[in-house]
Amino acid sequence: MKRKIALLAMAAMMVASLTACGSGGTSDGGSSSGSSSDVANADKPLVWFNRQPSNSSTGELDMTALNFNDDTYYVGFDANQGAELQGTMIRDYIEANIDTIDRNGDGVIGYVLAIGDIGHNDSIARTRGVRSALGTAVETDGTVNSDPIGTNTDGSATAVQDGTLEINGTTYTVRELASQEMKNSAGATWDAATAGNAIGTWSSSFGDQIDIVASNNDGMGMSMFNAWSKDEGVPTFGYDANADAVAAIAEGYGGTISQHADVQAYLTLRVLRNALDGVDIDTGIGTEDEAGNVLSDDVYVYNADERSYYALNVAVTAENYTDFTDSTKTYEPVSNQLDESTSPKKSVWLNIYNASDNFLSSTYQPLLQKYDDLLNLDVEYIGGDGQTESNITNRLGNPSQYDAFAINMVKTDNAASYTSILSQ
Ligand code: BGC
Repeated sequence: MKRKIALLAMAAMMVASLTACGSGGTSDGGSSSGSSSDVANADKPLVWFNRQPSNSSTGELDMTALNFNDDTYYVGFDANQGAELQGTMIRDYIEANIDTIDRNGDGVIGYVLAIGDIGHNDSIARTRGVRSALGTAVETDGTVNSDPIGTNTDGSATAVQDGTLEINGTTYTVRELASQEMKNSAGATWDAATAGNAIGTWSSSFGDQIDIVASNNDGMGMSMFNAWSKDEGVPTFGYDANADAVAAIAEGYGGTISQHADVQAYLTLRVLRNALDGVDIDTGIGTEDEAGNVLSDDVYVYNADERSYYALNVAVTAENYTDFTDSTKTYEPVSNQLDESTSPKKSVWLNIYNASDNFLSSTYQPLLQKYDDLLNLDVEYIGGDGQTESNITNRLGNPSQYDAFAINMVKTDNAASYTSILSQ
């Protein structure tokens, strides 16, 4: 009997303590199955990533979305620095291989360009970077035209011009033979299959003029490489340093750019973690945290006016690609586990705008999944179809369940579709 009473008393105590745990406050460390706070959804930490809230025609930043609340940030990479690097990487390649690059010997170095999304800052920057480095850019009021040109085998297009490169005292002509936004009929952009088809069309009508294939990303670049340029020995350049593209450098892929996804994925979750813990936003970023995590300033920049963290890019070529073969490895200086007593489990809603985007699904998300453990975040990953915002926003039906949000929009103009849900 005595034992039974003791057991009952124990059970009663357990119920009492469980109730106390569930009674709200941000200090609940035990729950991993949803938000434990009374914070209004509109005041919860929010990070935009990969697609910066901005006007898709002008590129102007959407400062309302970037200042949604005091704990709102954007995490991406420095698009202009990366674009310039991609252009320079291609020009360097041409210079180093000038004796063999002009395949048909017509004196014109011809390239084709796969454009990801004409309304996406990163895509626009990369198109401009390639054109600027190769001398094919046309500027109006100081801005390089980034429009696709269709085909331009005769050099008559107005959105680009024939460029010239001076190499070892000889002047060579460079021509953008064709470019196209790789959008499929359903509306998905950066579409690898569309790029594979485009190179088929281009190569069958003017294949011998194509000396270089350039692409706004590796997904499209690899599709063109596998469909045509690998067998033809035509150097193909992409962006993202996805593992398959890095491996393909051994087989003639010309090169790619690492946008330091390992640093970006960390920052995406780290800014949420810091806001949730109520610590200085620089903790574990520019300032070492207790676990020893810290980033040096050669891998990212923070622009306070834009509320944006930008990772810096690195060129990956035949010279250094062996250092980049595992694209899903966490960045060593920020790979230390946080202590759950000071950074308790919190739940995060996170979406990937297109579950079949090569970069986001094969590089970015696997990295996020490693960092969420290290940062004690319980992340729910939502994969979109790449075309419709509502396909994603429909799955943000109960924001009160989460402590923080990480958003990757389909269209960079659409921030309000998300913030209006959080403000309800
Ligand atoms: C990547 C692309 C990707 C896009 C998605 C870019 O930063 O380079 O590969 O398709 O993000 O938004």
